[in-house]
Amino acid sequence: MTAPPPAVRSAHEADLDRIAQLEELAFVDPWPREMLAYELAHPHAVLLVASRTEGGPPDAYAAFRHAVGEAELLRVGVDPEARRQGLARALLVEGLERLRQLDVQVCFLEVRVDNKPAIDLYESLGFCCTGHRKGYYRDGTDALIFVLGI
Ligand SMILES: CC(C)(COP(=O)(O)OP(=O)(O)OC[C@H]1O[C@@H](n2cnc3c(N)ncnc32)[C@H](O)[C@@H]1OP(=O)(O)O)[C@@H](O)C(=O)NCCC(=O)NCCS
Repeated sequence: MTAPPPAVRSAHEADLDRIAQLEELAFVDPWPREMLAYELAHPHAVLLVASRTEGGPPDAYAAFRHAVGEAELLRVGVDPEARRQGLARALLVEGLERLRQLDVQVCFLEVRVDNKPAIDLYESLGFCCTGHRKGYYRDGTDALIFVLGI
């Protein structure tokens, strides 16, 4: 039997603890809960969560920010146990659609040059590499800048 498509919805305050947990599971530099709460309340933020099953607890989340026609993907993180099941793709597709409805025309993101899963994900959605920042991250890793017209 094929798995049902991921369920994507807007994040709410009640999701904050789980999103903070997802940060810990997915990132070496997790955002603290206060920063997540700030983002959640920000009028120009789009925060989404995705679950493998409708009504289930969030297995992944994504955060975008937008202003005057431009957006940035700030975070996309998936529970390691829920990876390669289309959650990140579903989050980004929905997020980009919502941004389009907000009159956003272009979305940027930055990614570590050694993060192949994320780079493959972005390229599969049509993002193109438009820049390279040497030594951008605290540990000296370079960043790649990607862009997508939406
Ligand atoms: C990168 C990440 C978000 C991908 O999440 P995911 O839910 O597993 O991705 P999806 O299942 O939606 O995969 C979509 C596409 O991305 C690419 N992809 C995802 N994981 C990949 C991997 N490990 N290796 C190669 N390509 C990968 C593939 O093109 C995949 O399509 P396919 O499964 O049809 O081949 C996840 O690995 C993660 O949370 N990593 C840690 C946090 C992070 O690095 N975030 C991005 C920087 S902010």
